[in-house]
This record gives sequence, structure tokens and C-alpha cells, in this order.
Amino acid sequence: MLVTGKQVLDQANQGGYAVGAFNVNNMEILQAVIAAAEQEKAPVIVQTSEGAIKYAGIKYLSSMVHLAAKEASVPVVLHLDHGTTYETIMQCIANGWTSVMIDGSHFALEENIAATKEIVKVAHACGVSVEAELGRLSGVEDQIAVSEKDALYTDPDEAVRFVKETGVDSLAIAIGTAHGKYKGEPKLDFDRLSEIKKLLDMPIVLHGSSGVPEDSIRKAVSLGVNKINIDTDVRQAFTDGIKAVFEKDPGQFDPRKICGPARDAMKAVVVGKIQMFGSANKA
Ligand code: G3H
Ligand code: 13P
Ligand code: ZN
Repeated sequence: MLVTGKQVLDQANQGGYAVGAFNVNNMEILQAVIAAAEQEKAPVIVQTSEGAIKYAGIKYLSSMVHLAAKEASVPVVLHLDHGTTYETIMQCIANGWTSVMIDGSHFALEENIAATKEIVKVAHACGVSVEAELGRLSGVEDQIAVSEKDALYTDPDEAVRFVKETGVDSLAIAIGTAHGKYKGEPKLDFDRLSEIKKLLDMPIVLHGSSGVPEDSIRKAVSLGVNKINIDTDVRQAFTDGIKAVFEKDPGQFDPRKICGPARDAMKAVVVGKIQMFGSANKA
């Protein structure tokens, strides 16, 4: 069943668990994510970046996810990840996305508030949920000095003002994660997360969650993270799955025998994440 982001994330907030949000670019990734969620009886968020929409086409993605959600035995959200323009966000709303992210995190606070407010007004009028981001995720190779943390990471008081003025349904925060592959081990600012959650009893989102150690993920969930974004770890499973096929059978040329095992490998990764996030059996 296709549902809104608010429906699954408000329940996750009440229940103290996190819903996995997996980036999808093609049919095999989508099928892997849905199969994993069904096996684990978990609500799931299928998210598409602007790059995914450019790659696969908005109608293809919309049709595939709507079909998958209609047939699925678990609640499925279709979410726009890192929406940067008003046009893209409106196109997603018009094409049946049930949740959108407006990423104004690179703007100054006032501009981020103004851009987010504008999206919330239209999206909510259409019954679509909105995620926004406050604070900046660092690069995977950056070593963040303590003095730099306050400039980059989400400020709890600003977060309160941001949510009050924009009316967003969920908030992505910067507490030490980064997009892509980490060089070392990421260190999360759990005190900051606790402070934000105490001030804002609402769904909190963690980006850049691939490669974050299991104990850190579990701790982040226990402290109030309710949506966890995963892309890199699924990409890696896809590629490793394909490489394994060619290692065993270099002459293979049937796409089904190449993509099928990759799809199985991605499903296994998604199952592991769902179990780690605590959303198994929450559908
Ligand atoms: O946070 C970004 C996601 O991993 C999407 O990446 O823009 O290459 O599709 P992408
Ligand atoms: P990773 O690729 O680091 O998992 O980040 C995914 C993400 O945050 C998508 O918005
Ligand atoms: Zn992200």
C-alpha cells in the first residue's frame, strides 16, 4: 500500500524505531528493497534522488513504485531525496510522490526557512509530507575539529525555530555522518541528537548512514532517529553481486543471470538494515 512519509514516520517516532529509506534507480533495486521489507514485515521508504529521476525518467519511477506499492504487503512511501528546485518538487508531487525533501541546507538559515516554508505550503495542500535539512553533512574524508562542529552540525535552538516556522513533518540533522564511503570510522555527536530530540518530539532523519557501525546506528535509533537513509551500501552490494557472477563465469551475457544475483545481494543488505533499525514486524 502506498502511504505518506508522515504516516510511517509518526508511528516510528511513537514506537521508538527507524524506517529504512533506500535509494532506488532501477527495477532490480526496487524489487530488492520491496522483497526485503515484505520478508521482514517492515514499512519502507523508497527514495529517488534528482539523479535517479534523470537516469530512469520520472514516469518510469512513478509507475514502477506505484505498482510495487499496490502489490506490496507492507506500507511503502515514495519519497524525493534531496530535492533542490521548486520545479522538481512540484513535478514529483504531480507524479504521485507521497513525500518530498527540500534540501536548503546549503542556504543561510533565513533562506532555508523561506524555501522550505514555500514547499510545505504546496505539499501539505496536496497531502504530501515534507522533510527538510538543517546543518551541513561533512565530506567523507573531512576530519571535523571540535571548533568546526558548531558551524556545521545542527544547532538545537535553530532547529526549534526552523520547525516552528516551516511546519515540516521530519527534520534531517547533521551530527557527524557523511554521504558515500567513509575513510575512517564516523563519530556521531549523540549529545546533540539527544538535545534536539528532547526539544523537538518529531521524526528525526539521518543521512549518510551507509558504513556507520551497527552499535552507532542502534544508539542513534534509541535516541530518536526515525528515518535512516542508505544508498552506498546497496550500490556496493549490486556491484559486488555482478562482479561475483563474472568471476565465476566470465562469459556470461544474459542480463537476468547478471542482475538476478545482484538483486539477491541487495535484498540481503536491506534485510540486515531493517533488522538493525528496529522496523521489522512494524508493518
Ligand atoms: O545523498 C545522495 C544519494 O546517495 C543519491 O545520490 O544523487 O548520485 O543519486 P545520487
Ligand atoms: P549513503 O550513500 O552514505 O548511504 O547516504 C545516503 C543518503 O543520505 C541519501 O540521501
Ligand atoms: Zn542524503
